[in-house]
Amino acid sequence: MGKIKEIERRRTFAIVSHPDAGKTTLTEKLLLFGGQIQVAGAVKSNKIKKTATSDWMEIEKQRGISVTTSVMEFDYEDYKVNILDTPGHQDFIEDTFRTLTAVDSVIIVIDSARGVEVQTRKLMEVCRMRKTPVIVFINKMDREGRDPFDLLDEVEDELAIQVRPLSWPIEQGDRFKGVYNIYEGKLDLYTPSKQKVTEKIELDLKSDELAKHIGEKQAKQLRDDLELVQGVYPQFDREKYLNAEIAPVFFGSALNNFGVKELLDCFVEIAPSPRPVQAEERIVHPEEPQFSGFIFKITANIDPNHRSCIAFCKVCSGKFERNVPYYHVRHDKTMRFSSPTQFMAQRKTTIDEAWPGDIIGLPDNDVFKIGDTITEGEDLHFRGLPSFSPEMFKYIENADPMKQKQLARGIDQLMDEGVAQLFVNQFNNRKIIGTVGQLQFEVIQYRLLHEYNASCRWEPVRLYKACWVESDDPEEFELFKRRKYQYMAKDHEGRDVFLADSSYMLQMAQADFKGIRFHFSSEF
Ligand code: G4P
Repeated sequence: MGKIKEIERRRTFAIVSHPDAGKTTLTEKLLLFGGQIQVAGAVKSNKIKKTATSDWMEIEKQRGISVTTSVMEFDYEDYKVNILDTPGHQDFIEDTFRTLTAVDSVIIVIDSARGVEVQTRKLMEVCRMRKTPVIVFINKMDREGRDPFDLLDEVEDELAIQVRPLSWPIEQGDRFKGVYNIYEGKLDLYTPSKQKVTEKIELDLKSDELAKHIGEKQAKQLRDDLELVQGVYPQFDREKYLNAEIAPVFFGSALNNFGVKELLDCFVEIAPSPRPVQAEERIVHPEEPQFSGFIFKITANIDPNHRSCIAFCKVCSGKFERNVPYYHVRHDKTMRFSSPTQFMAQRKTTIDEAWPGDIIGLPDNDVFKIGDTITEGEDLHFRGLPSFSPEMFKYIENADPMKQKQLARGIDQLMDEGVAQLFVNQFNNRKIIGTVGQLQFEVIQYRLLHEYNASCRWEPVRLYKACWVESDDPEEFELFKRRKYQYMAKDHEGRDVFLADSSYMLQMAQADFKGIRFHFSSEF
């Protein structure tokens, strides 16, 4: 198969949702269609079962929370589908954000009874920032949920994106009859089944046949609803979807495997193949002859006995080949990879080549950091791996004076992995760890102990926000740093960070120093 064909057939995406909306269930059903698993219930990435995709870390097993992100890939018809799994727990949302930098599109799962939830909103913000095309799957139609028009209104308002239903539910809950597949013009009748693929009926909406299948009242309601849909929502326009201006919406029930195949069939057809990627220097096109890629994720020490980390690399252009020397831009060094891997849950296979859109696992012995770029020699730096201002802060202290070195090394590596953010206060030299949730502190403490043999202790620090600061006026910047010397810190990359202990203090600083820019995400 030629290069262009290989690129065009790839669909690299993530399924994201607020916890419990049905992301894992939907992923599992997609894997069923991809022939990767034979029975439902085999994948439970955030509940951790035997063949779970992401239970590499001991802590996950104990807590039943998926902490790492893994990749699942399969062939479906002529397409190669790469699903990037994301952790379900909200404390690891940063991990999900980073994964979103490696996908070409996203499917957002929404619970039909709960509508748009906090995490859905946050994830959508990242998609919007990156102009990632989004498809919405409204799940759990077998349960009593909200009115579909109300739900669509909410999605439009809360996620700030125009929607266009491509399927339409016929009743819901106990009365759920199925969906009308607007995209294909077919009626899909619902038979509750966890495994079976549903039957499609092709029929004219105006024909009497419709009532025979779903009932007189429902047939009328469906016709009315569809008329309204056609009147209210713009026609589906693939270009607009690819430009992230419109989100197609599907309804279904992942648990009952209903509406999933329809979603997948439409998804592979309309979703983008690998897109050009913006590097600092230039835009990199997938079809370029030379290989380039970036590291978006580094896993935990999968096997603590071997200290084996894996760096996940998204191929952006060219063709990756095993054992070919590549250029590690940050280290300014050439290296070759003899055992690059592809993934299916814990099953890894060594690969000889990979194409744009693919995710490859590179064994990492402290050579990679999140955001590292590999090329065939060009000095490229891929952008767009944001760190957001953390929400919780604690001082990290050494609890075992004999293990100072181990602690420093552990902290350093965990930060490279992007587990949390480190700020070193310039005033007292104390290290502050910033996270988005309490659980991350526990994970860090656990991993420092089990992987680095180091003990740490947490101490409270009163902080409201850490924001990156910069200015075009060196004099004002120096004055700012002098005045706020107690509150100045450096991040892991050595950039200046202002630690505000209250929103009032932040507002005052912003008012007093008009020439200073305060950033709440590291991508500026
Ligand atoms: P998540 O990854 O987004 O966190 O959600 P997950 O798929 O784990 O689903 C959360 C719960 O919702 C699960 O129930 C799952 O079975 C249920 N669910 C998913 N899709 C549907 C659906 O279409 N209809 C209905 N009625 N339920 C659905 P659980 O009781 O938490 O887990 P389990 O005991 O079923 O494993």
